[in-house]
Amino acid sequence: MTSVLAAGDHFVGPHLFADALHRQVPGHDLDVSTLCLPWPVEPFGPVAGVREASGTERQMLDALPGVEVVATQMAPITADVLAANPQLRFVGVCRGGPVNVDLDAATEHGVVVSYAPGRNAAAAAEFAVGLILAALRRIPGSDAELKDGHWRGDYYAYDNAGLELDGSTAGLVGYGAIGRIVARVLRAFGAHVLVADPFVRAEEAAADGVEPVELDELLRRSSVVSLHARLTPETEHLLNADNLALLPRGAVLVNSARGGLLDYTPLPELLKSGHLGALAVDVYDLEPPPRHWPLFDAPNVITTPHLAGATRQTAHRAAEIVAGEIARFLDGERPRFVANPDVLSRIGEVRS
Ligand SMILES: NC(=O)c1ccc[n+]([C@@H]2O[C@H](COP(=O)([O-])OP(=O)(O)OC[C@H]3O[C@@H](n4cnc5c(N)ncnc54)[C@H](O)[C@@H]3O)[C@@H](O)[C@H]2O)c1
Repeated sequence: MTSVLAAGDHFVGPHLFADALHRQVPGHDLDVSTLCLPWPVEPFGPVAGVREASGTERQMLDALPGVEVVATQMAPITADVLAANPQLRFVGVCRGGPVNVDLDAATEHGVVVSYAPGRNAAAAAEFAVGLILAALRRIPGSDAELKDGHWRGDYYAYDNAGLELDGSTAGLVGYGAIGRIVARVLRAFGAHVLVADPFVRAEEAAADGVEPVELDELLRRSSVVSLHARLTPETEHLLNADNLALLPRGAVLVNSARGGLLDYTPLPELLKSGHLGALAVDVYDLEPPPRHWPLFDAPNVITTPHLAGATRQTAHRAAEIVAGEIARFLDGERPRFVANPDVLSRIGEVRS
């Protein structure tokens, strides 16, 4: 009998983990207990040295005695939690990176940590395309104006009219799981797609029908730019006042990746001057942004509260990925996405 804790939340509910485990791990006798953490009813945040967790160490310390395997999205698996639970063998985190786990402490205690890259790629890509279309055609703004009693027929005036994707050049900064899906959709609309990603291979880009270029060239040539890189020390403020000046006048900019990729400070002026035609953002340096954030008052700005990954399918996919990892681990196979592979060779119980 393996004791498993399904520590879900109000997005990836504990029952989704439990159902996925019973489906994917039929060969093992599992004793699954459940716990529901408060996110997103309460925002996540740092907990005792781990980033982006929900719930408390106390909850973990109460729920974990005897548990060998954890399936979770947000549970704070801190150094103290790990130290108090030497029986723990595996933590499956159903998000792009296991930022709610103290990875060094897990490695030290011989606990395998897996994660779930790409779980929300379709959701995030579809949302990015939605923001691109909404910004190109002023959909949310004109909706709000009409409900407020203003029939803005003047949006047909040539200077106010929107832009099409068909025949345009669109630039994607970052060509990973999400960027690739966005590229496919933009190409289907008839756009020529440029990609700036230092790790993209020329033959791969050619096969996909996209053109790899340096970032500055992408900015010079694109009438719409969408960000899809990860935030790292190297990509912090990848787009800033200097290189945004390269954009053609009236270009549309979309950031649904991470706030830190884009320096927001120069954007209100760039929008007021018309250098930027529109901006759509789902992510912020500080989330939520302050009530009087300067971009709330700038023209042609669309804002959403970090929603790109929020689909029901993402929640199901996330639970299924973690259940699959747990099935492989319990069967003595190598899980697909291990964050601390050193532990696997050390514990020596997993076939590669
Ligand atoms: N808003 C949301 O709800 C939401 C949801 C999912 C993902 N995201 C974010 O979307 C972004 C993309 O996610 P993904 O799953 O496609 O990630 P990914 O890791 O699959 O792709 C990221 C790509 O960025 C590239 N890259 C690295 N350095 C770069 C640089 N200097 N310039 C350009 N590209 C660079 C990498 O080579 C990689 O191809 C991430 O920032 C992620 O955090 C946001």
